[in-house]
Amino acid sequence: MQYSEKVMDHFMNPRNVGEIEDASGVGTVGNPKCGDIMKIYLKIDGDVVVDAKFKTFGCGAAVATSSMATELIIGKTIQEALKITNKSVMEALDGLPPVKVHCSCLAEQALQSALWDYAQKNNITIEGLKPPKEDVDHHHHHEE
Ligand code: FES
Repeated sequence: MQYSEKVMDHFMNPRNVGEIEDASGVGTVGNPKCGDIMKIYLKIDGDVVVDAKFKTFGCGAAVATSSMATELIIGKTIQEALKITNKSVMEALDGLPPVKVHCSCLAEQALQSALWDYAQKNNITIEGLKPPKEDVDHHHHHEE
């Protein structure tokens, strides 16, 4: 399997690992296929994501995509953050092998789930944001 230099770099030296204690939003998602879990913490100030950290219990591609996703989201407005997809994360990493593409979806879902959590906590609606599909925490129940 062929990994780009960027994937290897983010896997070996992941950026923004850890947690944010007073996070504005936390998103936890699990990949039902492999059982890997990713948790992303966001600190949002006004309309801007000022910090992001992650913990990933998963494969190398999941670690690399979480690392890149946190790098991409820091400094973005909420609307810009919503446009971060697994594709943009993969592009920033110079691609992933096809069998590993599903791992990058975890990063996109975790970001969206953290934004959703932020919206719920603040009782706001973020235009274009859909409720997360997977929430392995089940701390709060979303009625749909
Ligand atoms: Fe599970 Fe990559 S194999 S996220």
